[in-house]
Amino acid sequence: MTTFIRWSEDMSVGAPDLDAHHRMIIDCLNALHPLLGAPDPEDRISEVLRRLEEFVLIHFSEEEQAMRKAGYPDWRQHKTQHDAMYDVVYNLKSDIEHGRTVDARHLFDLIYDWLIRHILGEDKKYRPFLEHPEAQADSTWHRGNGRPV
Ligand SMILES: [Fe+2]
Ligand SMILES: [Fe+2]
Repeated sequence: MTTFIRWSEDMSVGAPDLDAHHRMIIDCLNALHPLLGAPDPEDRISEVLRRLEEFVLIHFSEEEQAMRKAGYPDWRQHKTQHDAMYDVVYNLKSDIEHGRTVDARHLFDLIYDWLIRHILGEDKKYRPFLEHPEAQADSTWHRGNGRPV
């Protein structure tokens, strides 16, 4: 199997469990990549998408809990992005399960772009809060103390 992308330390969000999730998401993308040029790949793509859908659901939920616990102030906005990404993965999975033709290249580019950009961009923003929750506690308290967030 072609390894399309490798997880590396610069992708780390500072939490081993969430990093492990990101590695598994990357594994799904790596499993999808060799299917792009394959004849009749629908069954195999469908299987990978099922795995990815289940997995992002668990990951997004655990990541949202970790952000909230660490006092990351933009967790709601981050959750909105998760919800939109989940919808895309779910709809792609449903399309392919219902026999609709899916452009495999388009599908791969979409998932790759969203998930990898998200991990490297948005996910890394909460890293300082996970690493030093106590340093953020004061500002979080004031934000949550009756003032508009
Ligand atoms: Fe993530
Ligand atoms: Fe995220």
